[in-house]
Amino acid sequence: KILILDFGSQYTQLIARRVRELNVYCEIYPFNHYPALDASVKGVILSGSPFSVRDEKAPQPDLSSIKGKLPLLGVCYGAQYLAHYFGGEVKASNKREYGRANLSFVDNSCPLFKNISQHSQVWMSHGDTIEVLPSHYTVVASTSDVENAAYRIEGEETFGIQFHPEVYHSTEGTALLKNFVVDICGCKQDWTPDSFIETTVAELKEKIGEDRVILGLSGGVDSTVAAMLLHRAIGKNLTCIFVDNGLLRKNEFSDVLENYKELGLNVIGVDAGDLFLSRLAGIEDPEKKRKIIGATFVDVFDEESRKVKDAKWLGQGTIYPDVIESSSVNGPSQTIKSHHNVGGLPDYMKLKVVEPLRLLFKDEVRRVGKSLGLADKFLKRHPFPGPGLAIRILGEITKEKVRLLQEADHIYITMLQEEGLYDKVWQAGTILLPIKSVGVMGDERTYESVVALRAVESTDGMTADWCHLPYEFLAKVSNKIINNVRGINRVVYDISSKPPATIEWE
Ligand code: XMP
Repeated sequence: KILILDFGSQYTQLIARRVRELNVYCEIYPFNHYPALDASVKGVILSGSPFSVRDEKAPQPDLSSIKGKLPLLGVCYGAQYLAHYFGGEVKASNKREYGRANLSFVDNSCPLFKNISQHSQVWMSHGDTIEVLPSHYTVVASTSDVENAAYRIEGEETFGIQFHPEVYHSTEGTALLKNFVVDICGCKQDWTPDSFIETTVAELKEKIGEDRVILGLSGGVDSTVAAMLLHRAIGKNLTCIFVDNGLLRKNEFSDVLENYKELGLNVIGVDAGDLFLSRLAGIEDPEKKRKIIGATFVDVFDEESRKVKDAKWLGQGTIYPDVIESSSVNGPSQTIKSHHNVGGLPDYMKLKVVEPLRLLFKDEVRRVGKSLGLADKFLKRHPFPGPGLAIRILGEITKEKVRLLQEADHIYITMLQEEGLYDKVWQAGTILLPIKSVGVMGDERTYESVVALRAVESTDGMTADWCHLPYEFLAKVSNKIINNVRGINRVVYDISSKPPATIEWE
């Protein structure tokens, strides 16, 4: 495998994803906190960083067990650090070194640049530049503005590149990373969904033995794939719990339960809608709603899991970005909304936690799910927030409002599916606004609710743009909702991007 040492760059995860797309396994660690290297580590990549090597607080890794001993590739800050620390000169750049550039010189005899074309497009993003290289460093690529765009250290398999091979705009970036991880480090390209399933199932068997495991299912991809892996490993010793919080989409509880049965999972469905809604009565504040829902989930889950005699483990669908974030150089990012997910169970439950997906990115979870034989109805489902419709009913929640929103949302989502638009949208939903407006139906004046339709494009939910759904489609949806859902007389479409808006309205 490859180790990636993180100096806090926004692109670090992208390096890992590119390496894994080459079917080579890699892991990310903070630069100052990585495990002792064993024979399984074939090479190391140093990431970029928001710091300048000239800052007093600039991260300083201990590379004594790495440099000169294993293949090493410094990217951006990583490259500048290797130059600066070993006697070169790094200065604030006075030329533009952001964005697209083309290489003007490429040394194809350097193994890192084997088969990279002479004018290859690369992506730069740095404020500093390497002015002078240490004496035994050789330039292996330049652009017209950046002479030392890439170098190698003579007598070692150490390389530095100031551009970012991991981003999409470095058109031969993946080829370059392949030269490093496959040719230079000698990694085999055998990290595939099938090999992951095989090793994970074997590890789970070994770890869990004959113990019983409980797992909370949400209907989403992560918890479903986690359950499938556990099911393969321990069969009937896995008990899944799926809680209806009364805030799911129309028919979702029964549909999802039905789907899980098809998969052969042992699922207990708990209808706790009334409990959730009674605890939410009169609450308007979004964060309070989330907290109540989180706490109520724990209560319900706790009660149900007590019925599973001798459970020793709690299975969870945690994925790699959450793991990285909680141990990252930057620390967990600022809480914009306190996202509640299955988890945070009280200590007294005394269960050991097992997280079969903790090393996978979202797209890898989907690929593993596909290899496990999961149908598209699971794999292509839009994300749906844990607190469900509670954060799409602005203000106070009542049973009647839930019903109204479920009806409108069902029409919208069904029409997206019928018109072949569902898979083109990353996430879609309907929001019930806390206002009424005047309308006219037949000869009568109406005074009813407004819903907003939301559809966004995104890759990870961190940023998003609104989808340009066809006007004709929006017209049809609006018509159908107003004509079929009594209590709604107006439909609007949300055209805000994230940032500055968020995807959900609460
Ligand atoms: P925002 O509204 O923050 O949403 O732009 C980003 C993504 O996160 C989902 N979301 C949640 N998911 N619990 C969840 O499990 C939550 O409390 C929550 N709030 C937002 C949202 O649906 C979108 O996919």
